Amino acid sequence: MESLLRFIVFLWMLLLPICTNQKTWGLAETELRQLCGELLESAREPEFHDWLKRVRRRIHEYPELAFEEMQTSKLIRSELDSLEIQYIWPVAKTGIVASIGSGTHPFFALRADMDALPIQEMVEWEHKSKNNGKMHACGHDAHVTMLLGAAKLLQERQSDLKRTVKLVFQPAEEGKGGAYHMLKEGALDDSQAIFALHVSPNMPTGTVGSRPGPILAGSGRFLVTIKGKGGHAASPQFTKDPIVAASLAILSLQQIISRETDPLEARVVTVGFIEGGQAVNVIPEVVRFGGTFRSLTSEGQSYLQQRIKEVIEMQTAVHGCSASVDFMENTMRQYPVTINDKAMYQYANRVGEALLGKPNVSILPVIMGAEDFSFYSQKIASSFFFIGTYNETLKSGGLHSPYFFLDEEILPIGAAFHAAVAMSYFDT
Ligand SMILES: *[C@@H]1O[C@H](CO)[C@@H](O)[C@H](O)[C@H]1NC(C)=O
Ligand SMILES: *[C@@H]1O[C@H](CO)[C@@H](O)[C@H](O)[C@H]1NC(C)=O
Ligand SMILES: [Zn+2]
Ligand SMILES: [Zn+2]
Repeated sequence: MESLLRFIVFLWMLLLPICTNQKTWGLAETELRQLCGELLESAREPEFHDWLKRVRRRIHEYPELAFEEMQTSKLIRSELDSLEIQYIWPVAKTGIVASIGSGTHPFFALRADMDALPIQEMVEWEHKSKNNGKMHACGHDAHVTMLLGAAKLLQERQSDLKRTVKLVFQPAEEGKGGAYHMLKEGALDDSQAIFALHVSPNMPTGTVGSRPGPILAGSGRFLVTIKGKGGHAASPQFTKDPIVAASLAILSLQQIISRETDPLEARVVTVGFIEGGQAVNVIPEVVRFGGTFRSLTSEGQSYLQQRIKEVIEMQTAVHGCSASVDFMENTMRQYPVTINDKAMYQYANRVGEALLGKPNVSILPVIMGAEDFSFYSQKIASSFFFIGTYNETLKSGGLHSPYFFLDEEILPIGAAFHAAVAMSYFDT
């Protein structure tokens, strides 16, 4: 009996350090709620909120495309200067990495993307885009503003910051893989974890959400040129018709999904454009088409890539034509799957709940959109959250729509969320 007791005590002593040493990030519940409350209150002060709106509207009026974010970058630097925050620049052409806190390791990173889209804004309002054919239709103007808001909140509390927060303002999220280039230039060296927010017009203002594990798809593209032999439409026997070859190739691509893919696994192949021919009575020489392929695993991505090439080449050969399939890997880097680290997700989720209340924080489904945040998520513990911007009164088109319209009430919420995640990260 006594030896059993001794054994239990021994076991308890053995396990105790394991239980208590388990890494739990962040403050205790009440302290965290208090910190979140204070941050949100500060960011919602009329003066603070007006500043956020002014910054956001200026960025919105002058949208710039991937790797051309000169004015946006300049605006960010001038705001950082007035906040007396140190930064390095340029990183990946227009990017900026600012630092707040003690300067000691480990670093925690917060990220915002800066680029706009080649879309003509259709919303008539006072601060409509002044750059013709360009628009912040993915909310990156808000991402930059929320991160600047966090910078101000953190700078005001820098004596409470135990370590160092890195603010990563990156170029070229839309298709050009700016995150990859930021990493290559060392933007996240010494950072232990990273957090980012993306606006979502599908969720109401005042809510946030995410999920552990994969949240966004890996994504690649392909451009196809099918060469045949043109001729008179009335004499197909003397031609090699690239239109018929392209048609069958495109239809066959869909069998990769419906016949070769586990029905329980998410994969997409979409052909988004096709061009070829000009006259009703001419068989053309060439047809071009292109599209995107997506999956939630890197094996899925390489499988799709290999099969897209094979299917197109073989289907084309059946019709006596030749195909070249270009995956544009040199110019347009493929985006990997975006994966939320489970612990980082749980940690940020807890901060979200402390900030907005449990009912306002949801677990989202995976979507097959893609984000270059995935490059960070391949390297360090990452957490990517959506912040709702749907407002019944204001209405809005979806992301990438010329009718996208942001509810500026989210700006202080996002600023406080960023700041709270960073501030409590170093407290254990
Ligand atoms: C959720 O958000 C709404 C809108 O901001 C707010 O009115 C409500 O109080 C929040 N719920 C909780 C539980 O905090
Ligand atoms: C929706 O927008 C209106 C008008 O700007 C604003 O008064 C209201 O607070 C917003 N709703 C929420 C939930 O933020
Ligand atoms: Zn986008
Ligand atoms: Zn975006």
